[in-house]
Parts: sequence; C-alpha cells; structure tokens
Amino acid sequence: MVVYVLGGPGAGKGTQCASLVSEYDFVHLSAGDLLRAEQKREGSQYGALIAEYIREGQVVPMEVTIKLLENAMKAAFEERKNSDHSGWTNGKGRFLIDGFPRKMDQALKFDEDVCPASFVLFFNCPEQELLKRLLERGKTSGRTDDNEESIKKRFKTFIETSMPVVDHYRAEGRVVEIDATPPVETVHTVVRAAMDAAFAVEKSKTL
Ligand code: ADP
Ligand code: C5P
Ligand code: MG
Repeated sequence: MVVYVLGGPGAGKGTQCASLVSEYDFVHLSAGDLLRAEQKREGSQYGALIAEYIREGQVVPMEVTIKLLENAMKAAFEERKNSDHSGWTNGKGRFLIDGFPRKMDQALKFDEDVCPASFVLFFNCPEQELLKRLLERGKTSGRTDDNEESIKKRFKTFIETSMPVVDHYRAEGRVVEIDATPPVETVHTVVRAAMDAAFAVEKSKTL
C-alpha cells in the first residue's frame, strides 16, 4: 500500500508522517530526505545536480528520485521480511511517500512502474503560514533552501508544477484534503480520522 503525502513546503508533511509510522506500521519515505542523503553520499554522480535543484526549488529529474524511492522500498522489505510487523507479511508493505510526486511525469511513471497510490493525503496551508514555519525551521535545519529567496522559488514550483498533480488525483476522487493550518496535534487528530476511514474502505475492497 502506498499513500502519497503532498502539500506545500512547510505544510507539516514530515511532522505528520512521523506520528503515523508507529500508529499504522508505515515506512515513511521522504523524497526530499532521500535526495539530500544522495547529495551527501560520497561518490554520488548526482550530488552536484541535486544540490543545484534543491537550492533553486526545482524538481529533480524523475529518474533520480524514482530510483532512490525504489531502492528505499526494497531495503524496507528486506529489513522487515523476517520481523513481526503484521502488515508486512507476504510481500505486502505500507509506505508513506512524502513530497512525491511533485510533477506530473513522476506521478504517471511511479503509478505505472512501481505501484499506484491507494490515496493521497493533501495538506493545505496558506503561503503566509508556510513562510513563517520555513523561516523558523531554517534557524536550525541547516537546509540550503530554508531561506527567503529559495522559499519563494519553491512556492512558485509548488503552484505551477506540483498543484497539477494534486488536481489530477483530485479529479480521480483519490485526494483526502486536510487543513494543515491548526496546531500539530489538531491536524494529527484529523489525519488519524482520515486514515481510519481510508483503511476501512481499503479493507472493504478486499473482503
Ligand atoms: P514539510 O515536511 O511539509 O516541509 P515539516 O513537517 O518539516 O513540513 O514542518 C515544517 C516546520 O513547521 C517544522 O519546523 C515543523 O516543526 C513546523 N510545523 C509542522 N506542523 C506544524 C503545525 N501544524 N503548526 C505549526 N508548526 C508546524
Ligand atoms: O520535500 P522537501 O521540502 O524536503 O523537498 C526539498 C526539495 O527536494 C524540493 O524543493 C526539490 O528541489 C527536491 N525534490 C524533488 N522532487 C521530489 C521531492 C523533492 O526534486 N519529489
Ligand atoms: Mg519534509
């Protein structure tokens, strides 16, 4: 099972995913985190390219990101196949894919080559609040893109390139939209209710 977690930069995708991991036995894969790790990896042929795209708030070419996600998914299966994670038997697994797909080409490619998402969690939040959160995060994150100049570029990319992905899945009735503006705990309560409802629908499909 794959759930895409989308939303503007700073909407709280990573924060919310972290709590869902233990509650629903998900493996959380943040495309941005995977790209940053690859950028730092010694000997990576993509290091310089990723660094440039991230600072400019652009979407890294999909081949790179999809490969990283596939590798991470394989590693998660390997790690868990001999453990007692109940949702992970018989080659099944649960993934929260955070910050992906960010562009239509990656959405279509991943849906076809890897697996289509069961649904999409979309965290909606006004830019003014996102800006505040990102500048605050930037005080300690060490990220090269948590500064006002990069943030503006990321907002532009989000509206022009990533929102069409959300709209695409919305037209298919696969988006669960969540207001990400309230405090973390409030958002979490709403996300849990949405998850429980979505799991109930999934379960009824397999009965
Ligand atoms: P994303 O992964 O969507 O970019 P993060 O989860 O990293 O977002 O959150 C961005 C920043 O905002 C972090 O510093 C986080 O602590 C903070 N944050 C997350 N959710 C909320 C919220 N509901 N209200 C206020 N601040 C939040
Ligand atoms: O999701 P996060 O904010 O961590 O992403 C940081 C950056 O990583 C994005 O602004 C973008 O440059 C890159 N990224 C990407 N493709 C994705 C996810 C992230 O190019 N699917
Ligand atoms: Mg994040």
